[in-house]
Amino acid sequence: MSEQNLTSVLKEERVFAPPPPFSLQAGIGSMEQYQALCDEAKQDPEAFWARQAGELLDWIQPWDTVLDWEAPFAKWFEGGKLNLSANCLDRHLANWRRNKAALIWEGEPGDSRTLTYQQLHYEVCRFTNVLKKLGVVKGDRVAIYMPMIPELAIAMLACARMGAVHNIVFGGFSAESLRDRIDDAQAKMVVTADGGWRRGQIVPLKDMVDQAIDGLNCVQQVVMVKRTGQQVAFHPGRDHWWHDIIDCVDANAVPEPLDSEHPLFILYTSGTTGKPKGVVHSTAGYLLGATYSSKLVFDLKDTDTYWCTADIGWITGHSYVVYGLLSNGATTLMYEGAPNYPEADRFWKIIDKHRVSIFYTAPTAIRAFIKWGEKWPLRHDLSSLRLLGTVGEPINPEAWIWYHSVIGKNRCPIVDTWWQTETGAMMIAPLPGATPLKPGTATLPLPGIFPEVVDREGKPVGANEGGYLVITHPWPSMLRTVYGDPERYVQNYWTRYPGLYFTGDGARRDADGYFWIMGRVDDVLNVSGHRLGTMEVESALVSHEAVAEAAVVGKPDEIRGESVVAFVTLESSYTASEELKDTLRQHVVKEIGAIARPEDLIFTDALPKTRSGKIMRRLLRDIAAGKQATGDTSTLEDASILDKLRDA
Ligand code: WT7
Repeated sequence: MSEQNLTSVLKEERVFAPPPPFSLQAGIGSMEQYQALCDEAKQDPEAFWARQAGELLDWIQPWDTVLDWEAPFAKWFEGGKLNLSANCLDRHLANWRRNKAALIWEGEPGDSRTLTYQQLHYEVCRFTNVLKKLGVVKGDRVAIYMPMIPELAIAMLACARMGAVHNIVFGGFSAESLRDRIDDAQAKMVVTADGGWRRGQIVPLKDMVDQAIDGLNCVQQVVMVKRTGQQVAFHPGRDHWWHDIIDCVDANAVPEPLDSEHPLFILYTSGTTGKPKGVVHSTAGYLLGATYSSKLVFDLKDTDTYWCTADIGWITGHSYVVYGLLSNGATTLMYEGAPNYPEADRFWKIIDKHRVSIFYTAPTAIRAFIKWGEKWPLRHDLSSLRLLGTVGEPINPEAWIWYHSVIGKNRCPIVDTWWQTETGAMMIAPLPGATPLKPGTATLPLPGIFPEVVDREGKPVGANEGGYLVITHPWPSMLRTVYGDPERYVQNYWTRYPGLYFTGDGARRDADGYFWIMGRVDDVLNVSGHRLGTMEVESALVSHEAVAEAAVVGKPDEIRGESVVAFVTLESSYTASEELKDTLRQHVVKEIGAIARPEDLIFTDALPKTRSGKIMRRLLRDIAAGKQATGDTSTLEDASILDKLRDA
């Protein structure tokens, strides 16, 4: 939480009312309507969510209890049975939507595929039978490590159809990271591809899988899609080509009636320790959150072509490329590759070509577009757009204004959506037909969501006072636990303020009740809208034999939001060199993935510590940002270290 950040947002006074034509056609078209929903939810949150669950989802068996809350463990809609893939597919086959495009896909090389609801249903049923044929049973974990191709969505929907728990690992993570996640989840199967395309290059996914599962006993089967076509290793008995095995099964797969609380997926995310947390989401509550928020915040219409640029390997892709959209019967677009391949206008070209009407991306991408220049979007007809969105980090008002004018031609509302892997769905976000927008704030909570800004003691703070963002009431799409570690779930989210969910974010609420998120208050970085634990990068560095000790902090970065800065002390037998710096950077890439690569790596004889041995990251952050280290340094054990570090 920097003071600079706080003052810059305080200066932001522009307000953008929803354009009247937008409000007229919107599902929620006024603040009165929004307020009425909030009031209904506030009066009786459980009745409110029960109404939404009944209206938005198809149930095989109705629930007995809406919420069973044994703090901090929640069970929603207990006694109910449903199937998520039936909600995303089968129910749309009963009406005209059966021949509507469910998925429009574009590969990086320019190839494309469109799957109607009927066709997607057919593929999902067949892959469900592949899972069964290969011995996967309800409750088993299936790891998915794939490029952004339709088979990724098919595989996850197939897991959901039979009650297998998917564990999707972003294709940019290293073999080591993949191995940790497969091992922690004890996955029985891995679904992958020979490779994926990224900036014209092959990402060798199958090679990574081979490395990752070498010696891991849990994995019994690997299914791979042929995507890039290069030579890959093939282990008979363990490995299967998707196109071969899918021809050995039929397309009849009755959706399994699953308990509301049946785990749908595990998704690993960074925390304040070296080990990523397996965030567990449920079937009914999660689907309700994704469906409800997609409908309200994107104001979905059957005529929309919706595109979220996130990779499905992150929570944004789970909720807002796949589940929330298909459940609403929408058309969702999926793109495999980089935004600047073959040229910096690829996104605008895709919007133009497919007549995209709703576009959801990240502030880091917007800052890159600004840098690449207006000429790229100006080459294309973007008049199909009616709504824009952002997610992942606070958007700086300059970037907001650029997005609004250059991409949205001052016509399209921007929904700035605050949420987390753990919340499963959007929590604070405008309703585009109702909420007046201010650049840089995610505005107001969704009806049924109760956030608050509190001080160190957990007491609500006044308007415009900074504090910690908490959620005061359980919500359907909340995480249920940390996989295999309920203690960590309690410790991480519910101990700092008993009874309140702690988000890890700092925030302030303005006089209109708008939430201004000020960034993480824990040892978590936000690099390009993705979460990275400082401890995780430190552990990776220390695992190299040359490194005695490491401290990692974030430094403000124009495009990425934050970049990784590592302070490293070496074992005495090693000498600092540029070559060793590169070796260590490569080592981090190998251990975690390219996203964690330290931009700056600084060798130092010692790290600034308190007398009790705690690394004073606050001072390192100042040094990394090139600022004079401010604040109290009296607890520093050896004050001369700061001068040495500044000269390093
Ligand atoms: C953290 C969650 C939710 C999907 C993407 C990231 C930051 C997210 C916003 C926003 C300000 C935001 C927060 C949050 N964040 N959206 N609209 N405005 N900050 O998911 O990796 O779970 O990270 O991203 O710091 O805690 P994630």
